[in-house]
Amino acid sequence: LKVDASLQHARQIPDTLFGIFFEEINHAGAGGIWAELVSNRGFEAGGPHTPSNIDPWSIIGDDSSIFVATDRTSCFSRNTVALRMEVLCDNCPAGGVGIYNPGFWGMNIEDGKTYNLVMYVKSPETVELTVSLTSSDGSQNLASSTIPVSGASNWTKLEQKLVAKGTNRTSRLQITTTKKGVVWFDQVSLMSADTYKGHGFRTELISMMLDLKPRFLRFPGGGNRNAFRWRESIGPWEERPGHFGDVWHYWTDDGLGYYEFLQLSEDLGAAPIWVFNNGISHNDEVDTAAIAPFVKDVLDSLEFARGSADSTWGSVRAAMGHPEPFPVKYVAIGNEDCGKKFYRGNYLKFYNAIREAYPDIQMISNCDASSRPLDHPADLYDFHVYTDSKTLFSMKSAFDRSSRNGPKAFVSEYAVWRSDAGRGSLLASLAEAAFLTGLEKNSDVVQMASYAPLFVNNNDQTWNPDAIVFNSWQQYGTPSYWMQTLFRESSGAMFHPITITSSYSGSLAASAITWQDSENSFLRIINFGSDPVSLTISATGLQARVNALGSTATVITSSNVMDENSFSNPNKVVPVKSQLSNAAEQMQVTLAPHSFSSFDLALA
Ligand code: AHR
Repeated sequence: LKVDASLQHARQIPDTLFGIFFEEINHAGAGGIWAELVSNRGFEAGGPHTPSNIDPWSIIGDDSSIFVATDRTSCFSRNTVALRMEVLCDNCPAGGVGIYNPGFWGMNIEDGKTYNLVMYVKSPETVELTVSLTSSDGSQNLASSTIPVSGASNWTKLEQKLVAKGTNRTSRLQITTTKKGVVWFDQVSLMSADTYKGHGFRTELISMMLDLKPRFLRFPGGGNRNAFRWRESIGPWEERPGHFGDVWHYWTDDGLGYYEFLQLSEDLGAAPIWVFNNGISHNDEVDTAAIAPFVKDVLDSLEFARGSADSTWGSVRAAMGHPEPFPVKYVAIGNEDCGKKFYRGNYLKFYNAIREAYPDIQMISNCDASSRPLDHPADLYDFHVYTDSKTLFSMKSAFDRSSRNGPKAFVSEYAVWRSDAGRGSLLASLAEAAFLTGLEKNSDVVQMASYAPLFVNNNDQTWNPDAIVFNSWQQYGTPSYWMQTLFRESSGAMFHPITITSSYSGSLAASAITWQDSENSFLRIINFGSDPVSLTISATGLQARVNALGSTATVITSSNVMDENSFSNPNKVVPVKSQLSNAAEQMQVTLAPHSFSSFDLALA
């Protein structure tokens, strides 16, 4: 394997090459990275209708002691549904009667940690409410507090800190009373006081995102696009109506809204890529003749992100705590909509309006230009691939013959799936790694790439496989996640050409990069075959700077190519690092069968 590491033949990889795609699928956001513990906090899961769907809220008590129903008496005009609780018992049980919320398949409550409870309450008569964190059957009390509520005809906002005196991974929040009467509840929120940067995100999941060093964050979909109304997802959380994701079929309270996505991009150091609806959903299309209000809506969203703090929408952002604009430089006009009747017409309306208002914004078309030119202007085009491992392995040359003149490719969704994907197999990760070496090689025409989907809550795996698996308190990376960590140094690095002469070359893929200002050179080799492969590596252009001291080999492999990670064995297929004592411009390596090796050469 020959690496030409001379500057003369090197090419800089775009700064943006590897990033992440976040989609509200598999409860990735609600019940996932967004740290809200209460599910359906506004009793609004049925939308503005009454009776609303209050699932997963339940009652504590029986028909003779308590009656609950939704009505439209909320103090919030955009989410009018509230819960009316009527306590019927004169002599209520000592523990009281009331309601409880089990969160998203149980709340993770941890010993010594503080949880912030906020709720809106209305009670015509003075009443005492007991708020508690308990085990799933209510038998173990982890934290409790009594809150007096004065009788009034108005709603009151109550806030209470609860400090846990025990750990339980499947806890619930209870609100009880022993007093007969009527109490209304709305917008009941419970969040750990300890979220990433205090911005409401689950720290350990964000840290897995950070470990990928993502250069961009594409959001919010994917297939939830038509239900995501940015305007309804901003402002005070209590006032957000929430929405039912029509593609992945679950309710979210939209605590994780447009503003929070922008904040997340900033926290990750990733460029935000806003995928907005272009008037087309799975079943409906807005005629281009009627698209103007949609275009205006998107221009407003851009003003919200980028406008000065005294602009109409920029001032809303500033009021939410971010006077500085968010640097939105990329937008995608729809998702997987190319070929639909009104796509081209609608696209051009959005394109022209955005180009005029924000000339620096790069626009992404849904139409694939990898093998033929587009019939409309675009800075980038979207490319999605979900296929079997052999096909994806061979797709390392997918962009070899693409035109070098047109828009750049944004491979915003790629993964091995179905037959040989397992629930995230080593095999899948090897094919994906090979595909990424091809993207690096073609990074003169491929500007960005992201795996999909990124997250899955193990209790709701709508889509399989995914890169990061979690439940209320645990998380692990699939081999596809770990594979991506070995590419995290690539964005912005110098790419070097490689030639492989081997009887095994059909099952090998490789790429090489260096960082000019740093001390490292990385050579990644995937052995997709079932035989070990011995290679002589010969690098030219490193000027004898390779230093064995500090050089390492990091290998992802396992005894069975279908091996996966799991909660019980999260480290079965993970990168294993060792010293590379024979590191030199010329060196002999043996690649394990079904393996991905990254040789990180320290340069003197
Ligand atoms: O990421 C899973 C889905 O795949 C996305 O919603 C959609 O864009 C694609 O079909």
